[in-house]
Amino acid sequence: MKNFLIVANWKLNGNIKMISSFFETLKLNLSAYANKSTIVFAPSDVYLERVYQCINDMNIFLAAQNVDINLKGAFTGESSILMLKDIGVKYIIIGHSERRLFHQETNDFIAKKFLLVKKLKLIPILCVGETEKEKQNGQTKQVIKEQLSCIFQKLGNSAFRNTVIAYEPIWAIGTGFSAHPKDVQLIHEFIKNYIRKHDPSSINETIVQYGGSVNHSNAKEFLKQSDINGLLIGSASLNPQEFLKIIRIACHITGE
Ligand code: PGA
Repeated sequence: MKNFLIVANWKLNGNIKMISSFFETLKLNLSAYANKSTIVFAPSDVYLERVYQCINDMNIFLAAQNVDINLKGAFTGESSILMLKDIGVKYIIIGHSERRLFHQETNDFIAKKFLLVKKLKLIPILCVGETEKEKQNGQTKQVIKEQLSCIFQKLGNSAFRNTVIAYEPIWAIGTGFSAHPKDVQLIHEFIKNYIRKHDPSSINETIVQYGGSVNHSNAKEFLKQSDINGLLIGSASLNPQEFLKIIRIACHITGE
């Protein structure tokens, strides 16, 4: 039986009113599905505690969208892994393409964060994926290989045990143009083989999910692919009804 990891990445969206009504709707409708997938919310750091209060009696977990590379000290404006852990965060998204692009985060910098997140026993969700130009040039696998090999270099062959990799083709994020599920399956297979090459027995401990314009109309086709273990959902996760539809789809596939 497949147990999917469904992560809602709210990015720089949401407010107190939206959070209250979102989780009221979820509470009324989720119970039948809640145990069949692992559901995670990644609101802005500002609202992590508020979301934590809302999900407290539900089988839902909390993720941060980013974290600093330092644990404490004179680093104005940052949040540390220790702080996030302190307030109940379980997962941390690392290396989202929006951070790579708008905050100039490099593979090496992201690998350092990944190392620290693992060391402090939280679960990193590492985002990888190619730009449109890289895709056109046939460089997708090479780009992903570089994004992953940087992590292997820092953490050794068992780096990806108990972690999550989110394949997010950059051209599909927030554009309404998702990748084709069969193409995504091939990339996920490639990612899993690459990990298996380093650590033959670890592959069942690595979740590989897809992100990029996922919604209730395309979720089923993605989740039906054998190497897609979950979804990282941006804009469609901001609407509780839309998000519930995706959870229901995941639940039905799990039950098949
Ligand atoms: P999207 O975002 O679903 O809005 O494309 C996905 C993501 O960036 O994680």
